[in-house]
Amino acid sequence: MSGTIKPVESLDEAEARQELERLAREIAEHDQRYYSEDAPTISDADYDALRQRNLAIEARFPTLVREDSPTRRIGTTVSTKFAKVVHAVPMLSLDNAFSDEDVQEFVERVKRFLRFPADKPLAITAEPKIDGLSLSLRYEKGRLLTAATRGDGTTGENVTANARTIADIPNVLSGNPPDVLEVRGEVYMAHADFAEVNKRNEAAGKPLFANPRNAAAGSLRQLDTSITASRPLKFFAYACGEVSEMPATTQMGMVSAFASFGFKTNPLMRVFNKTEDLLAHYMEIEAQRATLGYDIDGVVYKVDSLELQGRLGFVSRSPRWAIAHKFPAEKASTLLIDIDIQVGRTGALTPVARLEPVTVGGVVVTNATLHNEDYIKNLDIRIGDTVHIQRAGDVIPQVLGVDLDKRPSGAVEYPFPTECPICLSHAVREDGEAVRRCTGGLICAAQAVERLRHFVSRGAFDIEGLGEKQIEFFFNADDPSLKVRSPADIFTLRKRQSQSLVKLENIEGFGPTSVRKLFDAIDDRREIDFWRFLHGLGIRHVGETNSKRLARHFINFQALREAGEQAVPPQGKGDTGNPSWQELRSVSGIGDVVAEAVVEFFGEDHNRQVLDELLAEVTPRDEVRVDTSSSPVAGKTIVFTGGLERMSRDEAKAMAEKLGAKVSGSVSKKTDLVVAGPGAGSKLKLASELGIEVINEDQWFERVKG
Ligand code: IVH
Repeated sequence: MSGTIKPVESLDEAEARQELERLAREIAEHDQRYYSEDAPTISDADYDALRQRNLAIEARFPTLVREDSPTRRIGTTVSTKFAKVVHAVPMLSLDNAFSDEDVQEFVERVKRFLRFPADKPLAITAEPKIDGLSLSLRYEKGRLLTAATRGDGTTGENVTANARTIADIPNVLSGNPPDVLEVRGEVYMAHADFAEVNKRNEAAGKPLFANPRNAAAGSLRQLDTSITASRPLKFFAYACGEVSEMPATTQMGMVSAFASFGFKTNPLMRVFNKTEDLLAHYMEIEAQRATLGYDIDGVVYKVDSLELQGRLGFVSRSPRWAIAHKFPAEKASTLLIDIDIQVGRTGALTPVARLEPVTVGGVVVTNATLHNEDYIKNLDIRIGDTVHIQRAGDVIPQVLGVDLDKRPSGAVEYPFPTECPICLSHAVREDGEAVRRCTGGLICAAQAVERLRHFVSRGAFDIEGLGEKQIEFFFNADDPSLKVRSPADIFTLRKRQSQSLVKLENIEGFGPTSVRKLFDAIDDRREIDFWRFLHGLGIRHVGETNSKRLARHFINFQALREAGEQAVPPQGKGDTGNPSWQELRSVSGIGDVVAEAVVEFFGEDHNRQVLDELLAEVTPRDEVRVDTSSSPVAGKTIVFTGGLERMSRDEAKAMAEKLGAKVSGSVSKKTDLVVAGPGAGSKLKLASELGIEVINEDQWFERVKG
């Protein structure tokens, strides 16, 4: 991880683009785990570090900001479990400050923006940042109408029935509330209640919640509201959404108004005029952290005047008028009993420290991440060592270093395995990569589910009715007529089922119609585009774009396979590899790294075997060589933006690529043409600033119809 990450200042444009792509993907995955599954796998600090890096790269390369950039998104997509609620005012997130200097800068930034003299006092509130989940409550004429989670910031989940079971949330407001009032705040679970819930779960043999935040989220997002009602959730009100008439002119006044309407508000909220006082209050809140009885992970500062808040407005996902000052991680030291190697779904070998149990910030820690091979080597971490660990807010603590004075005499350097502990395939490290990966690919059980998911995903085989849930079901099925362990198994399902007494249609979640549809959808893919087939194989570095490049060049899958099997990369200086290698490298856009990944994939016996099984069921179609010489957009770089009405994004992209154009996600000097639909925003603006031709969807069809 951190060992080989290049500083943002030294990234070139291509590297930056690649990094932004990786960060967008990783952050989206973590968001999904955090917000939708309530099961995060990295610490808040690591997550924040990913976001910070993304932000820094975007600041250096503003033209590379992606459509799906994490800075443009809050939270995650909304689950389909609940009805959707579109927030009248988006629910935003907060920027983070990690040091006193960051807070100082925040105050200065605000003053600069408002053209306030630096020494003029500015009232700012400080209050605990509650570690729960945010909720927006809409009241009309004093009655609770809807309660919605944040969701993606624009659309949340309707959890009204659940919210009504929470004692801190009034159904009818007291006092004199405005006609329309959206109160926002945090749902959380107190420590004592959390311990109680986990005790009950343990007694009932149910899984335990990792922390109070997950317990609160898991309890609120229940379809069965009696479960929510049985969990002791609490609520603090701290902000507002849509309001017909503001009940106050300041943040502090607004929060007091909330209290007068019957809400609980945090007793530690104060207002100050000086940065030193904000920081002193931060220290005070931190000192009380362990005895508050609920989790907080920092202090939130907000400009007190609502009028100034209005002037300050927002930058992408967070308000300019507020910031969250995070608490530093909590530390301890303990004995490293052993190092386990976990194999991730992408084949990454991740070392995990098994620790003698130790309490860090009120939580018993027994495992910690060791990141990767170099991390262990650089810090010379040995089994038997006493190690320093840190827990930053939640889930996975990390090992920070070793207490050499306490090293036992017999401790030896840790030999990092070069074989996958699950499938015994070679585990290799590519040049410049921090991670060692299992090459078992399709046969490694640890990777199989993820690979199958990828195989059926929209950009690959795109099999309708075969989503993540179904893949997991088939993967874990015991009955031989249902088991799917490799891609070929998907295509033998129908036949195996027809000969079996265990019928899928009798299993919960599947009915006769959905089973028939599923089997038809599978059969529909027995002939498939070459590039989709290739993409589905999940070869490292061979995503959609490279699959298309390779397909366009090789035309026929067998030709690519032969090149991949026969290619010999350069064996030293001056060597340029054999002809097959050179052919692979000659494909436009394919460099050494991708070519090596292709060679490695086709070089593994087990991959070849799985491939042969798949080819017995599925035929990749030869690529149709298109004559793009008469295409008006051949060789052009095109950006589609805004809403498209006559075609989907995927369709537009496929169409342009077929005509020999390159489709890009962001506008830059290299863009030749922008096709803009209704609602196009920053890209359209940038295009006109750069003098790039912009047309609408109808004009696009007009242009390419010939
Ligand atoms: S104010 C426009 N105040 O932190 C911003 N947020 O990281 C409104 N949070 O989504 C948020 N305690 O879920 C605010 N005292 C507090 C908070 C708080 C916790 C959460 C909230 C927000 C997240 C941002």
